[in-house]
Amino acid sequence: SRVVKLAVISGDGIGPEVVAQAERVLDAVTEHSDVTFEKTPFSLGAARYLETGDTLTDADLESIRAHDAILLGAVGGVPGDPRLKDANIERGLLLKLRFELDHYVNLRPSKLFAGAPGPLANPGQIDFVVVREGTEGPYVGNGGSIRTGTPHEIANETSVNTAFGVERVVRYAFDLAERRRKKLTLVHKTNVLVHAGAIWKRVVDQVASEHPDVTVDYLHVDAATIFLVTDPARFDVIVTDNLFGDILTDLAGAVTGGIGLAASGNINPDGAFPSMFEPVHGSAPDIAGQHKADPTAAILSVALLLDHLGLRDEAARVQRAVEQDIAGRGEPRSTGEIGDAVIALLQA
Ligand code: NAD
Ligand code: IPM
Ligand code: MN
Repeated sequence: SRVVKLAVISGDGIGPEVVAQAERVLDAVTEHSDVTFEKTPFSLGAARYLETGDTLTDADLESIRAHDAILLGAVGGVPGDPRLKDANIERGLLLKLRFELDHYVNLRPSKLFAGAPGPLANPGQIDFVVVREGTEGPYVGNGGSIRTGTPHEIANETSVNTAFGVERVVRYAFDLAERRRKKLTLVHKTNVLVHAGAIWKRVVDQVASEHPDVTVDYLHVDAATIFLVTDPARFDVIVTDNLFGDILTDLAGAVTGGIGLAASGNINPDGAFPSMFEPVHGSAPDIAGQHKADPTAAILSVALLLDHLGLRDEAARVQRAVEQDIAGRGEPRSTGEIGDAVIALLQA
């Protein structure tokens, strides 16, 4: 029988609440199978930092690296909390994991499930995947400030785009499009960000020539936000830069029934490092502790995790149970009640 070593980072705010349900679903779907998940909990996040001053130690990282996959809830405190200055949790923990584990594909599927409370009057069939670059762009932290805090301060953030980094994520996106509806949209801002834009455009054109049956188009990111609202059904695979992908996927979550349903995978396709699965949303301090958080995004992240590990049948069962649960939704339920319902559907 197969053993999968899973690192579990529940994190802050609603993170532990939604991860608890995701873990229950994982246990239920693997109950009678011949795969066993050996879970190691890691206490990481704003709470740990405030207690101990540690964000992510080398020992934490080494230990996480020795796992087959990672399940993460959400990390981070109340935006603007002065005790958490310097983005130490976002940069020092979450982005550090993505960078150190070379999660160059940030995979964010968006599907409008039947019954989901989407805000659009005529949404059509929304079913697309954002392939967000995960290790470069403005996220690298290549910047700085001089005359800091003065009226003459100059602050720079540099977006790093390498031909290597762009090509590997673009190749992944084309391969994914081949397995889907064979349509790929590059989203960028080539009319303004000419240097980075030129790499993205050139690489997409080059790789496109190896995929003659994939239809390719291009949208500036501002126009892409229009079409995500007016005609989201037009999209199949979107490939984009780290920051544009961040923004587009919160919007994508909103048009497909809410951020509480949006799952993601931070993938290292080469398999050199463990991939990490997490809801798109954050720690939601505004509703933490109220049992109101929707655990669906975390549960769907478990489906992505199972699929990534080749456990396709288990992944499909979780996905199906969630779809059935969404289709039958009525009155608002607690986090635990949604977990209960999904597990009941799994076992039905
Ligand atoms: P957020 O995603 O935490 O919350 C935005 C809004 O969505 C809030 O109103 C929240 O209540 C709601 N929401 C989020 N998840 C929900 C769920 N499962 N069910 C119901 N409603 C939900 O974004 P934010 O407020 O900008 O960030 C809060 C903290 O989380 C910050 O510290 C931020 O840096 C961090 N963050 C972490 C991650 C991560 O760990 N991957 C992702 C995004 C933000
Ligand atoms: C996300 C989050 C992170 C990001 C933050 C918390 C660093 O918003 O996972 O979408 O910007 O990638
Ligand atoms: Mn985000």
